[in-house]
Amino acid sequence: MLPEGAALDVHDVSAFPLFNQDLEVEIPAPIRRFKEKVRRADAILFATPEHNYSISAALKNAIEWGNRPEKDNSWDGKPAAIMSASTSPRGGARAQLHLRQIMVDLNMYPINSPQLLLARAQQHFDANMKLTNLEFRGILRELLTSLVEWTRRLRSSA
Ligand SMILES: Cc1cc2nc3c(=O)[nH]c(=O)nc-3n(C[C@H](O)[C@H](O)[C@H](O)COP(=O)(O)O)c2cc1C
Repeated sequence: MLPEGAALDVHDVSAFPLFNQDLEVEIPAPIRRFKEKVRRADAILFATPEHNYSISAALKNAIEWGNRPEKDNSWDGKPAAIMSASTSPRGGARAQLHLRQIMVDLNMYPINSPQLLLARAQQHFDANMKLTNLEFRGILRELLTSLVEWTRRLRSSA
């Protein structure tokens, strides 16, 4: 579903050690690789469920690692987009707002629209975890296109 010329590299952050400033003395190898990958990426696509009106703890933890140590913010200046999924009818709207707030501190540039809020997510995937809902698939395609266009626009004005 990606636009022509774009590639997506999925990074699972669920097994990262819990961020702790004491660990900054020697950053764990998987985190170093992750930070390097973020740094090299042209843009970031965040994917998250909504947990207690916010993003998942696993994503927040990865964000912390990306932003540390001081003066080594791997997220700095990156264009970004968010997709959220939830079993609720709101699709993670509050998690998305929270993430936008966090992105201010990270100095990231998220696109504003479209918003992919995958509500009642349990109804929209098949047994292979493929997204089956045509409306959501359309929004996902638009989101990817918009992120790629935004990334190219930022780059050409740099
Ligand atoms: C601890 C916890 C808190 C949750 N809080 C919310 C919430 O505040 N709002 C919401 O819409 N869904 C909430 N949910 C539902 C999750 O968004 C839903 O389970 C999620 O889509 C599952 O994603 P996963 O399969 O990646 O874990 C919560 C689920 C858990 C486990």
